[in-house]
Amino acid sequence: MSVRMALLLPLIFSLMIHRVSSAGWGGNYRPSHICALKNSSVIMSCNYTYPTGHKIKKVFWTKTPVKDGSKESSEEGEQHKDLSEDPEYSQRLQYLGDKQNNCTIRLSHVTQKDEHMYYFRFITDDDDDDDNDVDDDDDSQEQTSDPGVTLTVTDLQVESPETVREGDSVRLTCKSSCTLTDRATFIWFRNSQPLTEKRDRKNQLQLQSVRREDAGRYSCGVQGHTYISPAVQLSVTC
Ligand SMILES: *[C@@H]1O[C@H](CO)[C@@H](O)[C@H](O)[C@H]1NC(C)=O
Ligand SMILES: *[C@@H]1O[C@H](CO)[C@@H](O)[C@H](O)[C@H]1NC(C)=O
Ligand SMILES: *[C@@H]1O[C@H](CO)[C@@H](O)[C@H](O)[C@H]1NC(C)=O
Repeated sequence: MSVRMALLLPLIFSLMIHRVSSAGWGGNYRPSHICALKNSSVIMSCNYTYPTGHKIKKVFWTKTPVKDGSKESSEEGEQHKDLSEDPEYSQRLQYLGDKQNNCTIRLSHVTQKDEHMYYFRFITDDDDDDDNDVDDDDDSQEQTSDPGVTLTVTDLQVESPETVREGDSVRLTCKSSCTLTDRATFIWFRNSQPLTEKRDRKNQLQLQSVRREDAGRYSCGVQGHTYISPAVQLSVTC
């Protein structure tokens, strides 16, 4: 019975599988939303499962979403494009997983153009380990899990008043369009020099009782990352 089930299951092709079950088909992404800083590398951690008896023929990642309806409805002839064959990705994409259950990838030097949902897919033959008279090639199945991983890419912008008076206190904010991980440590620069004492988990720079020397061009970044925000001029008047 389990063999029969294993053979039937893949036929329910358009079924979207939301969670991993040890006996079923699926992929599992953690986290499912990634906020990445421009030009950084992201790791998309991924697991996949399939019923025992199936052999993995091909594993790949794609941006092409699962179409509603059956697999026959590919009017546009849109295959699920393998990103490793896409010139925009091939140099930057590294498959860290395996052909058993780990489908983790690394994408480097992310840009805003990479903002997308990404899906892992795998193709199995339909055979189980026992000698069966099933014709394997015709029955190969493509599996995925939906939704995939959403990647958002952010730059950084310094928010600051243009002018403050000597003695005022001022707060500069390093803004990102999505929330970076809690582990992000923000660093600040004045006239391109790092303010070494101003390293903080918070994305704010507080200047108490501003002095003339505090005037300058401020920019911010995140420790361990090359990207630095555009600089913003802060002027101090008396
Ligand atoms: C992989 O699967 C296990 C459970 O089998 C789960 O605990 C773990 O978080 C998963 N890892 C990823 C990257 O999804
Ligand atoms: C998957 O592979 C990556 C890279 O080799 C590794 O860091 C990660 O721990 C693996 N995940 C699991 C759930 O085995
Ligand atoms: C992007 O990162 C690489 C190193 O990973 C660095 O050499 C390059 O200068 C960075 N580019 C920008 C625009 O920050």
